[in-house]
Amino acid sequence: MRLTRCHAALAAAIAFNLLVFFVLWLQPQPRSWRARGPRRGPAAGPRVTVLVREFEAFDNALPELVDSFLRLDPAQPVVVAADRLPYPPLALPRAPGVRLALLQPALDRPAAAARPETYVSTEFVALVPDGARADSPGQLERMADALRAGGARLVAVPVASANPARCLALNVSLREWTARYGPTAPGRLCDALDGDAVVLLRARDLFNLSLPLARPLGTGLFLQTAARGWAVQLLDGAFAAARQAPLATAHARWKAEREGRTRRAALLRALSIRLVGWAGGRLEWFGCGKETARCFGTVVGDTPAYLYEGRWTPPCCLRALRETARHVVGVLEAAGVRYWLEGGSLLGAARHGDLIPWDYDVDLGIYLEDVGNCEQLRGAEAGSVVDERGFVWEKAVEGDFFRVQYSESNHLHVDLWPFYPRNGVMTKDTWLDHRQDVEFPEHFLQPLVPLPFAGFVAQAPNNYRRFLELKFGPGVIENPEYPNPALLSLAGSG
Ligand SMILES: *[C@@H]1O[C@H](CO)[C@@H](O)[C@H](O)[C@H]1NC(C)=O
Ligand SMILES: *[C@@H]1O[C@H](CO)[C@@H](O)[C@H](O)[C@H]1NC(C)=O
Repeated sequence: MRLTRCHAALAAAIAFNLLVFFVLWLQPQPRSWRARGPRRGPAAGPRVTVLVREFEAFDNALPELVDSFLRLDPAQPVVVAADRLPYPPLALPRAPGVRLALLQPALDRPAAAARPETYVSTEFVALVPDGARADSPGQLERMADALRAGGARLVAVPVASANPARCLALNVSLREWTARYGPTAPGRLCDALDGDAVVLLRARDLFNLSLPLARPLGTGLFLQTAARGWAVQLLDGAFAAARQAPLATAHARWKAEREGRTRRAALLRALSIRLVGWAGGRLEWFGCGKETARCFGTVVGDTPAYLYEGRWTPPCCLRALRETARHVVGVLEAAGVRYWLEGGSLLGAARHGDLIPWDYDVDLGIYLEDVGNCEQLRGAEAGSVVDERGFVWEKAVEGDFFRVQYSESNHLHVDLWPFYPRNGVMTKDTWLDHRQDVEFPEHFLQPLVPLPFAGFVAQAPNNYRRFLELKFGPGVIENPEYPNPALLSLAGSG
């Protein structure tokens, strides 16, 4: 048969169509076409996004990590999240599901581009640390099943690295600005993990946290989930460690640790945690010190700003107040100045031998006639005196009393109120508009009695219960209340 021009054209068209079809068939397919694996839900496609956030740009094993997940499932969504474009550039495998999320807002990108949830469309997220590698199929799906079945809001599988995850108990108290880690009680789920683990949770839960991807990732994540009462279930099994572990040199580890410390301090500050009790018992303080300013501003209406935020005195401030009080009492005792716990300080001592947990200064009464015995007080009459330990003694600008500040920059203070006896009544010349600022019979000071306060033993009026009720009203020891209940009351602050 002779091939006509028409036949040739038809054959060419068919061949071309077949070719186009073949090329299309080779292309990566849109999500909705994807093959359905046996463990996958009816909605099709992977249920878990791998999210990598904890790595150092200067030394990491991310190419191996990402590649290990893609080998098991070429359709695996992987998001690598960094604050800014990693340098040196990451050599990530090219695959349609692999994306780099830059979390720092930039002039030329929309706000959504800096939000990690923009890059996640699966029900679950697995947070995978650098140095981990997937080596057996279905690990993430099994974790998702365990999360669905169990009572925990997060599930985790350790990484078989030099530092595999272990379980910790964690109490977070927003009111006291503290986080305390400890061993988990037998039979209890974990509140936090220490060490390397892949952690899986619902995307909706992760992105409902205040700082979902703040670094160090584990520290930030578990502080936020523990504060919400979400438990972590540590599952059996392990993810493999990278063949070439990241941060293998001493210099790289040193650099990573240094940056980690800076990040941790910034994170704790952002989450308003000022005191961390580590599992071994070590305490770590963040917040105010001798060189910093006081960590709350001028107090208005006797009600410090932190009370309105549902918080009590930051622990660093309580510590500085205790230290100042102990120092001042030591100086007064050495100089033979008769003093006694006054106001809220006496109340705290009577209640539980310490500062009231929301108090912001310490009050002591002194005998006016003893002021001349004390070099620092004599000096303060003339101007401000910085003593050899850096405490600042001065006459208060508000009236005829003395004030000892923690340091020149940190104005946490102890106030010293000079009283003198007149016809058996202790009185003074300036009065503040406070209920407790009243005259009282001298017999409360004859004799003074020892009373534990703030970690030492201070002098207090005898019969201090009657003394306190005279000043504050009946039942004051048993019924704690904020300093100015008309503005904010303990019961009303939730
Ligand atoms: C957490 O608080 C509970 C209840 O007060 C206490 O029993 C437990 O010891 C605390 N755990 C840690 C680690 O502080
Ligand atoms: C996010 O958290 C708030 C409480 O913090 C809760 O009321 C809300 O339902 C959560 N949203 C989602 C989508 O889980």
